[in-house]
Amino acid sequence: MKRIEKKIALITGAARGIGRAIAEKFAGEGADLALCDLNCDWLQDALEACRAKGVKANGYAADVSKAADAQKTADAVMNDFGRLDILVNNAGITRDGFLLRMSEEDWDAVLDINLKGTFLLTKAAAKIMLKQRSGAIVNLASIIGLIGNAGQCNYAASKAGVIALTKSAARELASRSIRVNAVAPGFITTKMTEKIPEDIRKKMLEAIPLERFGMPDDIAEAVLFLASDAAAYITGQVISVNGGMVMQ
Ligand code: NAI
Repeated sequence: MKRIEKKIALITGAARGIGRAIAEKFAGEGADLALCDLNCDWLQDALEACRAKGVKANGYAADVSKAADAQKTADAVMNDFGRLDILVNNAGITRDGFLLRMSEEDWDAVLDINLKGTFLLTKAAAKIMLKQRSGAIVNLASIIGLIGNAGQCNYAASKAGVIALTKSAARELASRSIRVNAVAPGFITTKMTEKIPEDIRKKMLEAIPLERFGMPDDIAEAVLFLASDAAAYITGQVISVNGGMVMQ
């Protein structure tokens, strides 16, 4: 039995990495998909891979940090699909640097996309879901939002913010059967982590009890669970998927 058959899911940052893995996982479980990224051309491979699994998949170009783009995307999804059951706020960036050298621009860019983007899409989707009296929102947080990291003050603050936003929105929306949860990945092999130097990677690997880095599919599986009816009694929670790197 497919786990989210005929549900309509909007996934941001779906062109590559974790977002794309979530899209393909959802397609395999029967959901029709609205995939969003900065550029529609980048989405073509993901869209084709999803359609090959027999579902409807449309692409939407949007910068999640722009309120007008967020609303325009939600409106277009309603126009094309007629409802919205699942939102996955996955789009995110890093702009690493030590505190004293971090520019205001790098702080703002990370907070705008990771945290404000999650707020804007959540707000636009919640308007629809409140009318439907149902919905599931899953946000991509990070292990760094839980424990912090030298060189990532902006990213850590954005992901800690995503966790607080998740819990607050969960409390606001629960009475209308809208669930809001987060997944906090550890170190996952994607373009985002490709730029981490080899010596730091080696140290990170030593800190992972399951002795491997995560794959995008490891995250997609947890997102699917939270988005599906299997998690009907779960809201306001953060599921860590990190190979045991942090246990709390
Ligand atoms: P990635 O860099 O491979 O992919 C991110 C996607 O988001 C790209 O397709 C990019 O074009 C899109 N994007 C960036 N800015 C956007 C914007 N303003 N509007 C719309 N789309 C935008 O990243 P990855 O690794 O797949 O990460 C996905 C999410 O998972 C992010 O939120 C990230 O912070 C989180 N995460 C990743 C971890 C990792 O180890 N890779 C660990 C913890 C969290």
